[in-house]
Amino acid sequence: MSTNYAVEASGLVKRYGSTTALAGIDLEVPTGTVIAVLGPNGAGKTTGVRILTTLTDADEGQATVAGFDVRTQGNEVRRRIGLAAQDATVDPLLTGRENLVMLGELHQMRRSEAATRAAQLLGEFDLNEAADRRTSGYSGGMRRRLDLAATLVSRPDVLFLDEPTTGLDPRGRSELWTVIDTLVGHGTTVVLTTQYLEEAERLADDIVVIDHGRIIARGDARKLKREVGGDQVQVVVVEPGHLPEATRLVAEITGVEPKVDPNARSVTAATSQGVETLVLAAKAFTEAQIAVDDMSLRQPTLDEVFLTLTGSTTDDDTPQEA
Ligand SMILES: Nc1ncnc2c1ncn2[C@@H]1O[C@H](COP(=O)(O)OP(=O)(O)O)[C@@H](O)[C@H]1O
Ligand SMILES: [Mg+2]
Repeated sequence: MSTNYAVEASGLVKRYGSTTALAGIDLEVPTGTVIAVLGPNGAGKTTGVRILTTLTDADEGQATVAGFDVRTQGNEVRRRIGLAAQDATVDPLLTGRENLVMLGELHQMRRSEAATRAAQLLGEFDLNEAADRRTSGYSGGMRRRLDLAATLVSRPDVLFLDEPTTGLDPRGRSELWTVIDTLVGHGTTVVLTTQYLEEAERLADDIVVIDHGRIIARGDARKLKREVGGDQVQVVVVEPGHLPEATRLVAEITGVEPKVDPNARSVTAATSQGVETLVLAAKAFTEAQIAVDDMSLRQPTLDEVFLTLTGSTTDDDTPQEA
């Protein structure tokens, strides 16, 4: 069966007792694209992935993956997907190569075919050196790469990656991003979940933001950032005594009331004028003879995106300072 959408879901609802994990999710993922499902802990990301990969049934709604119904055609779906779950799935007592060969055999490959596929994937994922060591000795990044390689043994059409880089250090994260780029280059449709806007922006064609089981925003990273008020300009002054004057200047330039942090000696405000804001600020502070430690323009953080979209931070129910 062919379809223009690798994933089509409508009205997905899932309840666990009194918890509504998904409260009606619609999703369309065009074949060959990457979609990021972005949301804080407990948003419902894993629940969504579990439904689409046939590991659990939705209470309401329907979904097809690779053109097959996840509820009634589970075998067809499973044959066409790969899943890298949030918790690693490789066997720590086996070597990387043994893990991949075993998976190939589970997918009905002949042993020689499985061995060839394993060798190919170990090379692609930069695991040649570690291939014949037990995975219990692998670094977090190596284990994640092996996890990804494992999902590809069967050459899936649609790949689900549930928080692929959570727990990795920045280097491991950027290595994994490169690997995911390679997958996308092969034409695989990828559905990935993440808590990092940066990751969604780096990898995905389209981003769906979910919170408390609902979609609260969708679009590309630029659109989402526009929705949260654009860049933030921040000026750090040398003398705390200059903060009131600095606040006045930043307010004048941006047209909004800045946030002042006396401990950091900083004044921060949203701006839609990009780098022009820095040019104006540099000029104004020079003219006012206010010494500046740092002046920067930055994009909103995930926290700020969530704060704007949901009224709560990614730390879920942490109360907000006024
Ligand atoms: N098996 C389960 N039993 C009970 N509650 C669950 C179960 N799985 C998930 N939940 C609840 O559903 C909500 C969504 O969870 P989850 O899909 O794991 O979110 P995420 O992956 O975005 O962190 C959370 O409130 C979680 O506690
Ligand atoms: Mg999860």
